[in-house]
Amino acid sequence: MATESPRIPSRQWRGVLHEYADRLNISDATPIITLGEGGTPLIPAPALSARTGAQVWVKFEGMNPTGSFKDRGMTMAISKAVEHGAKAVICASTGNTSASAAAYATHAGIKAAVLVPEGKIAMGKLSQAIAHDAELLQVQGNFDDCLDIARELAANYPVHLVNSVNPDRIEGQKTAAFEVVEVLQDAPDFHIVPVGNAGNYTAYFRGYSEELERGVTTKLPRMFGFQASGSAPLVLGHVVKNPETIASAIRIGNPASWGFALEAREKSDGYFGAIDDAKILEAYRILSAEVGIFVEPASAISVAGLLERAEAGQIPRGSTVVLTVTGHGLKDPQWALRTANGGDITPTVVPVDAAEIAGVLGLSKATA
Ligand code: F0G
Repeated sequence: MATESPRIPSRQWRGVLHEYADRLNISDATPIITLGEGGTPLIPAPALSARTGAQVWVKFEGMNPTGSFKDRGMTMAISKAVEHGAKAVICASTGNTSASAAAYATHAGIKAAVLVPEGKIAMGKLSQAIAHDAELLQVQGNFDDCLDIARELAANYPVHLVNSVNPDRIEGQKTAAFEVVEVLQDAPDFHIVPVGNAGNYTAYFRGYSEELERGVTTKLPRMFGFQASGSAPLVLGHVVKNPETIASAIRIGNPASWGFALEAREKSDGYFGAIDDAKILEAYRILSAEVGIFVEPASAISVAGLLERAEAGQIPRGSTVVLTVTGHGLKDPQWALRTANGGDITPTVVPVDAAEIAGVLGLSKATA
């Protein structure tokens, strides 16, 4: 049976539907299914400011309950699905959507079926979907094939689609822009996001547009979106049949929100760029080793995009720049070991001996 989460005292962040109830398409009839998503930190990144001359902030979406920004849209999509009587939901996923759908569906007491490209999603994400008791099927195709099938099943069978083609997902995700504005007291000059289906790019644009309409900001940020070079349909202007990148979360050749994304780029004087895998991993290392924020590779493309645009002279000094980093590093940690100190790292093994360990650490004894 579907279950609604009980009310929580207001001292604790209550999730985006409670926090922004007046600005979302929900009513008293909507059962709010929440795991406390949103309210993520906007962290100043002095190391990136020093590298670029801009004032750089990082919106760390890995701090959401399932470790990615997907939870903002999923609380909305699952709440609305339950409101409409759904007993089961379905999605296609490169991993994070499936983890989120699985968690929120199980919290609501309904079933989730998830379709993922065989062998192409990170182990952490696969584990999450299984842990949350989803029906997980590995499809012998890529993400775009999975999405086609999920849409077909939702059209013909009693399962509710919770991919970002469902407008409730974008509606929930726009709350991240509200949070940025609350901290900065205006929109930033630039907002940079990784792009796969372009749902999140679309959602931020919508959130910022609503803030401008409400009169609490003075401008729209220029929306910059980055895709991996091997999966960059929005940059190339055509579908990519066999997308490739180590950033498995954004290995997408035919973005679902293509039309919305072009409109958002146009209206925000935005930009789409492509970044190769080597540059993504370089930025991934900079973010973890210089700023102290651990993300999955797809998220690091925001950092790589900033560095590339700054180098090209496209980010005026002193500009305020917000980077969204979309997923937590613990979801796909293998890359940390591969990128540390320029190569495969096996941590050094030492005996149980303080003097010997001091020697390995290069410590010499303090003299009194
Ligand atoms: N970053 C991460 C970590 C993601 O998981 C995704 C999308 C994106 C960025 C891109 O966001 O699609 O709104 O442009 N992941 C989806 C999934 C496709 O199935 O988890 P987008």
